[in-house]
Amino acid sequence: MAQLGGTPILILREGTEQSKGRDARDRNIMAIQAVSEAVKSTLGPRGLDKMLVDSLGDITVTNDGATILDNLDVQHPGAKMAVAISKTQDSLVGDGTTSSVIIAGQLLTVASELMHQGIHPTVISRGFNLAGKHARAILKNEIAEKIDPNTDTDTLKKIAVTTMNSKGISGNKVFFSDLAVKAFSKVRQEKDNMGQVSNIVIVKKKGKSIQESQIVNGIILEKEATHQMMPKVVHNPKIALVSQSFEIKKTEFSSDLRISDPNDIQAFLDQEDSILKHFAEKLQEIGANVVVNQKGIDDAVSHYLNQNGILAIKSVTKSDLEKLRKAVGGHINENIDGLTAADLGTCELVEFKKIAGDDLCFFSGCADPKAVSVLLRAGVNQGLDEAQRTLHDALCVIASIYDRSAIVGGGGAVEMELSQRLLNLASKQSGKEQIAIETYARALEIIPITLAENAGLDPIDIIAELRGAHAKPGNEFMGLDIYQGKVVDNRKAGIIEPIANIDQILKSSTELAVMILRIDDMIKSKSGGGGGMPGGMPPGMM
Ligand SMILES: Nc1ncnc2c1ncn2[C@@H]1O[C@H](COP(=O)(O)OP(=O)(O)O)[C@@H](O)[C@H]1O
Ligand SMILES: [Mg+2]
Repeated sequence: MAQLGGTPILILREGTEQSKGRDARDRNIMAIQAVSEAVKSTLGPRGLDKMLVDSLGDITVTNDGATILDNLDVQHPGAKMAVAISKTQDSLVGDGTTSSVIIAGQLLTVASELMHQGIHPTVISRGFNLAGKHARAILKNEIAEKIDPNTDTDTLKKIAVTTMNSKGISGNKVFFSDLAVKAFSKVRQEKDNMGQVSNIVIVKKKGKSIQESQIVNGIILEKEATHQMMPKVVHNPKIALVSQSFEIKKTEFSSDLRISDPNDIQAFLDQEDSILKHFAEKLQEIGANVVVNQKGIDDAVSHYLNQNGILAIKSVTKSDLEKLRKAVGGHINENIDGLTAADLGTCELVEFKKIAGDDLCFFSGCADPKAVSVLLRAGVNQGLDEAQRTLHDALCVIASIYDRSAIVGGGGAVEMELSQRLLNLASKQSGKEQIAIETYARALEIIPITLAENAGLDPIDIIAELRGAHAKPGNEFMGLDIYQGKVVDNRKAGIIEPIANIDQILKSSTELAVMILRIDDMIKSKSGGGGGMPGGMPPGMM
């Protein structure tokens, strides 16, 4: 509140809450630490699962950091920022969500200690920024090992297995890594491979086991034919892709039609009939024997299509139709009058199958599909959802390797190597920033520490051993293998990760920590909704 000649000037609406300086910062730090604590126990292969129950009572069992944070009804603004970085992490690399939040939490913990020692937050945030930049440069130029994803399928599978180690489908990792590598190899491109992950459509159906899952060299639509008598199988189909309603438009307002001459009634019906018939005739004329329509198909049109031996599917979503086009080729037409034989797509086989009680239409044997479906099977519904998240993560890490073809060691290896190299770098600097870089370096140890803790190993012993190993050159891949319960060469053990993952973890966690440290004033308007000022952490978070 400012004063002007003794009169206070109010610049904020009455009821606005404001916390300043240390108070604002401490509250944000506490909130992020709370989020970090909430996900810590899920990190790594021995991480525990969380059972999330939403307001409708639906249950999700997962240890996927992104899913957990997505489901937490977080209200504190600082905590919301932590959730936001994990979402960014998820959308950019599809993995590393838990790690990014844990590192951010640890950076802020050590920053608090430095502030207590009297170092100004601006100095710390500058030091962290610098350390983060150095870390990413060291990662790229000194630590990462280049690979060729086009020939090194073995390494691709290991990367996929490593990401799946921390998921609940342990028994099927090898099967899934194989599936993910094969599925992705069909849609991969020169660049923007992360963008291609959405061209792998996962169709979930209950089954006996995950091993029944399969890749279709084309697309599955969860649809049935519009007429019972239509063919169930079409070999070498000529497929018309249409986004034009095969119905006669009804007027939007009620209207009367007065017909005085009985002959006119017939003429009117004939007219309507010929419009409907036209759809089927046109398709037959250009040689189509399958039509997939984004819009509706009138029963009468279905009847004529059936008479002409054409298989029809209606009400397909725009995105499914687009994926189908990527698989079978051809063009999507808004008006079939302009349709020609050149617009038709094809594949080896269109076939209906009943799976888990549902009708599915398989378009398979596509020559060069740019989109494919994976039919995912698993015992129970919950298993299916977690299997889908797992497969999605595996696809993401494989895609990211095609975009940036280099790997680093998992199980804390890369964090320890970075930590060691940053410490060397700090020793050549001077002043308070040196301390900040050193602190940043030590903060990275939180990953192996947490992995060890979650596995019931002694973190002090493990860290001592890792420090010793990484002090020597040529040990970049020395990390923890939880399955062997000790420090090993994780290049040999096959615990490896894409560079894009750790790179983004460093970027997002540093950004979050720096952002929080720079905030010294928090103003919250009364009508802002959602729980009061920090102090009052959302109930689930404490
Ligand atoms: N066999 C293993 N031994 C030790 N650490 C492993 C092993 N497999 C994976 N990890 C590590 O687990 C961590 C990832 O755990 P996860 O729960 O998936 O968190 P995130 O959301 O950060 O990906 C990574 O540091 C990874 O290297
Ligand atoms: Mg992971």
